Amino acid sequence: MKTVYFVTGNMGKVKEAKALGKEFNIEIQQIEYEYPELQSDDLDIIAKYGAECASRALNKAVIVEDAGLFISALREFPGPYSAYVFKTIGNEGILQLMANQKDRRADFKSAVGYCEPGGEAIIFTGTVRGEIAHETRGEHGFGYDPIFLYDDRTFGELGIGGKNKVSHRYKALKKFVEWIGTKDI
Ligand code: IMP
Repeated sequence: MKTVYFVTGNMGKVKEAKALGKEFNIEIQQIEYEYPELQSDDLDIIAKYGAECASRALNKAVIVEDAGLFISALREFPGPYSAYVFKTIGNEGILQLMANQKDRRADFKSAVGYCEPGGEAIIFTGTVRGEIAHETRGEHGFGYDPIFLYDDRTFGELGIGGKNKVSHRYKALKKFVEWIGTKDI
C-alpha cells in the first residue's frame, strides 16, 4: 500500500483524507509541521509554495492543502483569507454579513499541492457549490461546515460520509490519488 504524507495541523482535514485513502487503498499519514503560508489571492499559489517549502524542510514527498470559502454576494470574500476570518469573526460574523442577502451562493475551493524534495509542486483542485445557511446547523466537521448548505443539509449535518462524497477536498484529493496511483513512487 502506498503511503502519502499529509502536512497539516487540521485534524478535520486528516479525518477526511484518511477516509478517502481507505477507499483508494492509500495510507494517509499526518505530519504536523508549520510551513510558511504565502499571502496570495490564489489558493493554487499558496498550496504550491507550501508544498515546496514543506517537502524541502522535511526531505520527504508530501502533500499540503489550502482551502477557502468564496461567497458570491460578498465578492468572493473571505476566499484565501478564510482562516483569518474564521479566527476573527467566525460563522456568526459571516451570518451577520449575509443577513440581508438574497443571493446566498458560495463555493468551497481546495488546492492540494504534491511535492518531492527539491522539486516543483503539482496542484490538484476541487470545488463544491453550495449556499450560506441562515443559521449554524450540525455538529460534525469543522470551520465553516455548519453554515455551508449542500442541497438542504449543511456539511455540519452531513458528517464525513456525506461530505466526502461531494466536497471540494474530496474532489481535489481524489484527482491526486488517482494520479499518484499511476506513478512508480
Ligand atoms: P486552510 O486551508 O486550513 O487555510 O483553511 C482556511 C479556513 O477555511 C479555515 O478557517 C478552515 O477551518 C476553513 N475550512 C477549510 N476547509 C474547510 C472545510 O472543508 N469545511 C469548513 N471549513 C473549512
